[in-house]
Amino acid sequence: QISSVADEVGCSVYAVGGFVRDLLLHKKNLDVDIVVEGNAIDFARRFADQHACRVRAHEKFVTAVVIFDDGYKLDVASTRTEYYLEPGALPNVEEASIKLDLYRRDFTINTLALALNHDSYGELLDYFGAQRDLHDKAIRVLHNLSFVEDPTRMFRAVRFEQRLGFKLGMHTENLLRSAVEMDFVQRVGPLRLFNELTIILNEENPFPAISRLEELGLLACLCDQWRVDARVKESFRQAQKALHWHELLYTGSPVERWVVYFLCLSQPLSDDAMAAVCGKLSVPQRWQDILVGERCRVMKVFHRLERDQQKLAEYRPSEVSQRLKGIGDEMLLYAMARTHSDAVRLAVSQYLTQWRDVKPLLNGDDLIALGVDRGPRIGEVLALLRDARLDAEVSSRQDEVDFVRS
Ligand code: CTP
Repeated sequence: QISSVADEVGCSVYAVGGFVRDLLLHKKNLDVDIVVEGNAIDFARRFADQHACRVRAHEKFVTAVVIFDDGYKLDVASTRTEYYLEPGALPNVEEASIKLDLYRRDFTINTLALALNHDSYGELLDYFGAQRDLHDKAIRVLHNLSFVEDPTRMFRAVRFEQRLGFKLGMHTENLLRSAVEMDFVQRVGPLRLFNELTIILNEENPFPAISRLEELGLLACLCDQWRVDARVKESFRQAQKALHWHELLYTGSPVERWVVYFLCLSQPLSDDAMAAVCGKLSVPQRWQDILVGERCRVMKVFHRLERDQQKLAEYRPSEVSQRLKGIGDEMLLYAMARTHSDAVRLAVSQYLTQWRDVKPLLNGDDLIALGVDRGPRIGEVLALLRDARLDAEVSSRQDEVDFVRS
């Protein structure tokens, strides 16, 4: 379908970047990037006219997103070249050939283009040794200024290295180390740094990448108190186990994996140091409230549970639920990863899997019908009913009615 529209608008059209890289590596990647040697918006609109989809166009960058009915998105860009007026700043952009478009990219392995027009369909463009580096399992930049122009590429390099099981080329590693030494990371805006870090922390197992960031001096550029020692390593291992367990529960509430690992990394940090790193990385406020504000309170709750661990099995479910009420999943999983107490882990898992969502069968209207006064009393009685249900003091609707009447 893309081929027909490409031929109609008379432009060369290619699939590029990570999609082609992963295709050659036989790795699944549904994130298809299309470039058009011509006007991407015209191409996207023509495509959308003929298929069940809409277009969101960005006139300034001459790019478009094609959005299909099922929510799938296809990014379409016009081939362009970029030049940087200063390190770390966003680039200036100009229309260019496919070859120049590929040259502006971060690493050779990301410079492949797959032709999509009918007459050249499936032809692979490889101007910069991408296939050689895929074969050598090497991450290599295209030119010496790559990390200087865009220091976020240093984080991308580590991410690809660890995700694909590749290794930085020697020259590339030297360039990266000197860019670190010259402190180029400090020229990157906080949001872009935050974005790179969260992508790494959202990987299936982020520990090797975090460890490599430390070795290259990049972790200290984000926070000079972050260290990868045996304790942090163990926390990451336990956090991965807890996240995996949570995933298998299919609770329907997705967790932000990066938050759990961010907490592991920041384990030794004081509240002030945590606030400082959150500020430096522009962590969104809602997460700062949890990372800085909640952490201390939740750790206290867990210390108390650990202190009482011998008696925990005798605790009523309502009592445990009361203590854990309001704590978000990310923080619960972090605390589960941190605790050495099996009894505490069991109590938290019961809370998450069985107790947290327990509700009484009666609702507010039922209580009013039973003669409970309107207002705050309704909430109080509902809470009592929920506790009674948690502790198996009531099981049927009639039990609840009797409970209210008594
Ligand atoms: N790119 C770049 N410099 C950056 C970010 C991106 O040169 N700082 C280029 C890369 O060549 C990449 C393309 O833009 O192939 C698209 O970026 P992105 O979607 O982030 O990369 P993918 O390679 O698709 O990575 P992933 O598999 O993680 O999606």
